[in-house]
Amino acid sequence: MAMWKTLGPLLLLAHVVFGQSSIRWCTISEPEQQKCNAMSKAFAEVSIRPSLECVNGATVEGCVQKLERNEADSFSTYASTIYTLGKTASFKIAAAESAGGSDDKGTTYYAVAVVKKSNSAININNLAGKNSCHTGKGRTAGWNMPVGYFIDQGTISAMGCNIPQGVADFFNASCIPGCQSDPPSLCALCKGDVNGNFKCEKSPKEQYFAYEGAFRCMVEGAGEVAFIKHTTVLDHTDGKGPSWAQGLKSENYELLCRDGVRAPVTAWNRCHLVRIPSRGIVVRNDITPSVVYNMLQDGLSKSGFQMFSSGSYGEGNLLFSESSTKFLRATSEDPKMWMGTEYYNALRAMDCKVEELPPSLRWCVTSSGEQNKCAAMAQAFSGKGLTPTIKCVYGDSPTDCMKKIQNKEADAITLDGGDIYTAGKDYGLVPATGESYTEERDGSTYYAVAVVKTSNADIRTLDDLRGRRSCHTGYGRTAGWNVPISTLMERGLIQPQHCQIAQAAGEFFKQSCVPGANQPGFPTNLCDLCVGDQAGQNKCEKGKDLYDGYNGAFRCLAKGEGDVAFIKHSTVFQNTDGNSSEPWAKDLLSTDFQLLCSQGSRAEVKQYRNCHLARVPSHAVMVRPDTNIHVVFGLLDKAQRYFGSDTNPDFKMFDSSAYQGSDLIFKDSTVRLVGVADRKTYKEWLGQEYLDSLVEMDCNSSSAVMSSVCLLLTALFSSMLANLWM
Ligand SMILES: *[C@@H]1O[C@H](CO)[C@@H](O)[C@H](O)[C@H]1NC(C)=O
Ligand SMILES: *[C@@H]1O[C@H](CO)[C@@H](O)[C@H](O)[C@H]1NC(C)=O
Ligand SMILES: *[C@@H]1O[C@H](CO)[C@@H](O)[C@H](O)[C@H]1NC(C)=O
Repeated sequence: MAMWKTLGPLLLLAHVVFGQSSIRWCTISEPEQQKCNAMSKAFAEVSIRPSLECVNGATVEGCVQKLERNEADSFSTYASTIYTLGKTASFKIAAAESAGGSDDKGTTYYAVAVVKKSNSAININNLAGKNSCHTGKGRTAGWNMPVGYFIDQGTISAMGCNIPQGVADFFNASCIPGCQSDPPSLCALCKGDVNGNFKCEKSPKEQYFAYEGAFRCMVEGAGEVAFIKHTTVLDHTDGKGPSWAQGLKSENYELLCRDGVRAPVTAWNRCHLVRIPSRGIVVRNDITPSVVYNMLQDGLSKSGFQMFSSGSYGEGNLLFSESSTKFLRATSEDPKMWMGTEYYNALRAMDCKVEELPPSLRWCVTSSGEQNKCAAMAQAFSGKGLTPTIKCVYGDSPTDCMKKIQNKEADAITLDGGDIYTAGKDYGLVPATGESYTEERDGSTYYAVAVVKTSNADIRTLDDLRGRRSCHTGYGRTAGWNVPISTLMERGLIQPQHCQIAQAAGEFFKQSCVPGANQPGFPTNLCDLCVGDQAGQNKCEKGKDLYDGYNGAFRCLAKGEGDVAFIKHSTVFQNTDGNSSEPWAKDLLSTDFQLLCSQGSRAEVKQYRNCHLARVPSHAVMVRPDTNIHVVFGLLDKAQRYFGSDTNPDFKMFDSSAYQGSDLIFKDSTVRLVGVADRKTYKEWLGQEYLDSLVEMDCNSSSAVMSSVCLLLTALFSSMLANLWM
């Protein structure tokens, strides 16, 4: 505070010197303009600097245009308006209006989810199929915030921006006053007036309308969860509220928190769905925010002008909100940071307009098998009326596809960890949805494991792998190369000289099959165990050798060619216990195989959660940052309800056998696609654990044989160092 007292006048001086002697306040109506003129006069009388001028912009949009044209400097508006204006204009936030009170953070209120304490099984993660109570369609606490939160988290998906349908598909039944023209289940729990008329009307005639009504809907057992604001329970319990609420005790209700736990209704500060910020003071980019904040503060304390009162100008809430009592310095001048990511993400999730939907989603494919599957997918999806429709674009390689997506010649591609890194770092792409290889919510990750035969008692730990035969999914691939080789380096088992990792691996193992290691300068024993395609051609060729990929590496182990296979945890289950009808796999049992743990022991294949080399981010569909990821997930989530099963006779999203190949477009082991939730950037998707394990493979850049892995890791390492300095 003391610092600001001294700094404030200095900054002010600087602005006066550079001509910033007045602040041009933008108004949106004639009454506002009058109030502003009166305020300007009052400020001038006590010599507040900079002086205040008033400019009529007619509307908030007009005001933001004036800001951009340097015809106005500042105005105050709602957080939701700031979100909307921020989509097309650039500006800063100087301050927030505040009503004071117990939460002095410039908060309007908190949107919360309330349940009965006695309903102990319910939490924020298991609301699917439950009955719900909402204040009303389009309202903040009962609709925009909870539905926005659920869409943002990938819990609810909405195809083609049809959010009411997405909500209806999620809850068993609801009361959402105002949903009379939407799916009937959204009005099913509504009560109407005492005679049962006006059911689901968005007015007080519906007894379950608004905060009180939504709470009552839950209290009376129509719904199990009510989406209301943080004060609603306390206003209607412990002797407060109307007659129907008499006898209710606040201690009998609990809040559902975002992290899956529950909390008393008084704990809204830490347990809520979304904090709704109060109005903010918008300023032009060239204005120093503190100049405006200080001017408002001075006006409040010195001028005696009633800034938060508008009665004498004929309307309410002019320039500022009537309920505000003071200004708070903005926590951040960046609008998105100021309003908070919870609120921003919820608004963004609800910001879906049919008119703005792309006519199609152009999927980038890199092989003829993928192209065939993509064509079948497009046809299958359109047969079910799914939107947007799928189109297929051919790219020479994943990198070519990344370029095409960046250049808006394509829209989406599914990529693995290493490619996600490149796509994010070099092409600015972001994840839109991820593959999950388990049914679990957290399943969007797989584990890289080292598998040996149970009968092979000679190999007890990773150390015993020296001089053995190894099977890898492919050179440069995550589970088959990067993770196991970095693990061996981490343990000091291999110590590459001058970045010659392939050489070091070739010296460590006696023989291997590493498809893609058929490169000049690489040890030839890395290809020794490879067998080529059906015709014996293309030995050690990436994508062509029979021992390529997860199933190939496992086959290499199962056939007894190798002593160890570096694959992912689900590969064993897919190829054993009758799960595969391939001749080489049909008689295999999962108990014939065990895992080598990085800690130095062996475990059953089911123990992969505790016995693995690394937890690896799953493949993700990558898109341009201007693509609405909720539209992409909305389409694919709906699609997987029809085509996610591997027994669907029309089209199988997660099976490639009909198109001569494996893992086409999606990995065959995908159980379902999940929303990205809070992992919205490529770094968040990859995760620190995985990035750290990659850094282990960093090596000296002066080397002659610089593998692509090294290049990737050097870049990664320096970017991490750069972050350390920030
Ligand atoms: C689902 O909603 C219907 C009303 O549409 C209701 O009759 C039924 O009991 C609800 N099911 C559950 C499990 O709550
Ligand atoms: C990497 O370079 C440093 C000096 O630049 C050297 O001391 C070290 O031995 C090198 N390491 C390898 C593995 O080549
Ligand atoms: C594969 O086998 C496992 C037993 O190891 C079984 O639990 C699973 O259901 C099977 N999966 C399929 C797709 O048949």
